[in-house]
Amino acid sequence: MLTVSNLSVQFGKRVLFDEVNTKFTQGNCYGIIGANGSGKSTFLKIISGEIDPTSGSVSLEKGKRMSVLSQDHFAFDEFPVLETVMMGNRPLFDLKKELDAIYAKPDFSEEDGVKAGELWVEFEEMGGWTAENEAASLLSSVGIKDDMHYVLMKDLDGKSKVRVLIGQALFGNPDVLIMDEPTNDLDFETIGWLEHFLATFENTVIVVSHDRHFLDAVCTNISDIDFGKMNQYSGNYTFWYESSQLAARQRAQQNKKAEDKKKELEEFIRRFSANVAKSKQATSRKKMIEKLNIADIKPSSRRYPAIIFEQERQAGDQILHVEHLSKIIDGEVIFKDVAINLAKGDKVMLLSKYSRAATAFYEIITGTDHPDTGDYKWGVTTTQAYLPIENADYFKSNLNLVDWLRQYAKTELEKEEVNLRGFLGKMIFSGDEALKSCNVLSGGEKVRCMLSRMMMKRANVLLIDEPTNHLDLESIQAFNNALKNFKGTVIFSTHDHEFAQTVANRIIEITPNGVIDRYMTFDEYLDSNKIKELRKKLYSN
Ligand SMILES: Nc1ncnc2c1ncn2[C@@H]1O[C@H](COP(=O)(O)OP(=O)(O)O)[C@@H](O)[C@H]1O
Ligand SMILES: [Mg+2]
Repeated sequence: MLTVSNLSVQFGKRVLFDEVNTKFTQGNCYGIIGANGSGKSTFLKIISGEIDPTSGSVSLEKGKRMSVLSQDHFAFDEFPVLETVMMGNRPLFDLKKELDAIYAKPDFSEEDGVKAGELWVEFEEMGGWTAENEAASLLSSVGIKDDMHYVLMKDLDGKSKVRVLIGQALFGNPDVLIMDEPTNDLDFETIGWLEHFLATFENTVIVVSHDRHFLDAVCTNISDIDFGKMNQYSGNYTFWYESSQLAARQRAQQNKKAEDKKKELEEFIRRFSANVAKSKQATSRKKMIEKLNIADIKPSSRRYPAIIFEQERQAGDQILHVEHLSKIIDGEVIFKDVAINLAKGDKVMLLSKYSRAATAFYEIITGTDHPDTGDYKWGVTTTQAYLPIENADYFKSNLNLVDWLRQYAKTELEKEEVNLRGFLGKMIFSGDEALKSCNVLSGGEKVRCMLSRMMMKRANVLLIDEPTNHLDLESIQAFNNALKNFKGTVIFSTHDHEFAQTVANRIIEITPNGVIDRYMTFDEYLDSNKIKELRKKLYSN
């Protein structure tokens, strides 16, 4: 379907891709993963022809069409919905515009008539007459009702816009659909819709994403960009992650018999397939990942940070008690009458329809801000470590990373360089890396420093506002595992479905009319009709 041959890409001295050879075949969905800056977006731009490689080539099978999901949600703001979808077939759209312009001429000549006649023939050959109907039926399949078709894009809410843009990308039934981080900035409901849509879409999809739940729901293959190469694996993200970890462990076990290793791999595949069979999506993609075998398991070269949260001492039974808490921001009630009693070991996913609510709640219970009403009380044996969503204030000095971390050490022993370097090393800052100035760090590096600080604190309560922001997949995975294994209490807020589902045992939603507080998993919370009704009630005035 799509063949990449000897592809090399270099920006200045920096080599992004070095002689990459790979193939994308019909009907598969490829999830492209790799560290920040490894070249994922560049790769998509090259296969879609937006930019040229330094050398090598990309060839799409003859007669096949490719389309790209627009990342810019505002690019079509001035166009009506139906027209936006039709622009998905650009040559046809341009032709129609040319025709409209001819007819709009005040001095329509005989020549114009001849020209128009020729264009109409072309128009017909391109399926122009049925295009509008096709666009309309496509819109209804992505959930946009007829009465919205002539509304301008700028008048749609964010969720509907994304659906129209997907309609645009799907217009004319492309053989290959390309998407760069499509779930960014979407809410759980819209992501769920997109997951379902792509899992049942039968043509080839190539998608870059950091969203593990999304990758698992849609992918049949993982393409991993690492050190200028691209390695392809069969299976979804979880299969890639767990099987490559297992393969790496086995490689280290020299005494173990080959036969036993083989059994272990077979058992792994059996369990994985059983889980896929149990999962919700029933699609052709799912059937593909049920058919994996031992040959599909390969160790990967990835290095994961070592995130481990230990507690200096365990907390007693009193953790946190919150009463009548409310917060008004810019005249708007963000939450009201929030009452919570945390139990030891709770892993709470804190959520709200208002993006600022969780952050406001953390600011209050960490003493950085005041509530408008109510009070809170921490148990006397608790110690808290907070990962704020914004960390710029922590990085205003020009201290090197070792000295930066030393500011937060409590004892002489903790202040020693070996200790500090130990925590930095866990987040993969080693050697000279640990001596660079903290004000030159990238977004992801700053979060890694904040995690070193958090580990060093050895608190028994962790407060975490958007753990996956700026982090690459390796760090997200390690952070996620660390919270699953942590024995203390956690309150966190996230846009990452997998994080929410695998860490939380309790869901607390704070609303302008009180709280919803349930001991259940995040999926159970999303699926419950009772809770859907309750949410509607609590968010209406
Ligand atoms: N046109 C360009 N000129 C020079 N460097 C570029 C250009 N485009 C991207 N880069 C660099 O190439 C690297 C890969 O970028 P990108 O493909 O956006 O990474 P990813 O999507 O994997 O995060 C980055 O270091 C980026 O700064
Ligand atoms: Mg990118």
